[in-house]
Amino acid sequence: MKDLISIADLTSDDIQNLIKSAIALKHGGRRPLLEGKILALIFEKPSLRTRVSFDVAMKQLGGHAIYLSQAEVGLGEREPIADVARVLSRYVDGIVARTFANQSVALLARHATVPVINGLSDEEHPCQVLSDLLTIYEKKGGLEGLTVAYIGDANNVANSLLLACSLTGVEFSIASPKGYGPKEEVLALARKNGGQILIAEDAKQAVQGADVVYTDVWTSMGQEAEAARRRSAFARYQVNEELLSLAKKDVIFMHPLPAHQGEEIAEGLLDSPHSVVFDQAENRLHMQKAILVELLG
Ligand code: CP
Ligand code: NVA
Repeated sequence: MKDLISIADLTSDDIQNLIKSAIALKHGGRRPLLEGKILALIFEKPSLRTRVSFDVAMKQLGGHAIYLSQAEVGLGEREPIADVARVLSRYVDGIVARTFANQSVALLARHATVPVINGLSDEEHPCQVLSDLLTIYEKKGGLEGLTVAYIGDANNVANSLLLACSLTGVEFSIASPKGYGPKEEVLALARKNGGQILIAEDAKQAVQGADVVYTDVWTSMGQEAEAARRRSAFARYQVNEELLSLAKKDVIFMHPLPAHQGEEIAEGLLDSPHSVVFDQAENRLHMQKAILVELLG
């Protein structure tokens, strides 16, 4: 494994090993496993969790991170992506990139001689979902046989989650408005992995028997012009206490954040007894460490 671009590049064993490593790093105290290593963070879109957790992870592992905004790098604008990849490979030990087009981060990986990690693209958010599996594993004591219900837009996070569930024996049900459901190619990949997938008629059906209810924003970064249309299309897909009451009694509620209260979640839902969103956010740090040690160590 040189890069981490898509969950589809991983095996079930890769995921299990990353979860084990993240747990060991979380509880094992700070060790300088990446002493002297330098990570470049290239971000075309804003970020709180991904940027800070990678930066802190590098520092706690004895390394260093350099943040580069799109205004500085001009990925594909100031110079070709292939040249950025080849130049950065002469300076740093790894690259995390958050891009609009998935092709941009894939191109970086193709031309870089150092590992490239997808820090979110329009198609996938693999680091988010690997840390989410860690959270589910911790909260439920394992993964096999669980059911995750995803309510809302079949976006980057949903794609990665669908693929990751299919690799780890987690059943996946999804409810989305017409036109916003999962793409056939993602479903085909997940089914090839043996994934059990239910495309539900509505949110109530999707959450029946669910161990985890997961949602994300209706309007992802880069889709702002569609916000009004999306608000009306998704109006019946809000996650609230009433919806959670239809899932298993001990259901946990997850969201990658940032959240829009009053849209995809009801006001106050982040503080529901079912909500694990801040433990989920913390686990970004522990999983970033596992990913970094695997690829840069
Ligand atoms: N969940 C997540 O990736 O958050 P950021 O966009 O703040 O990095
Ligand atoms: N789907 C969201 C996730 C943010 C972490 C977006 O792409 O904006």
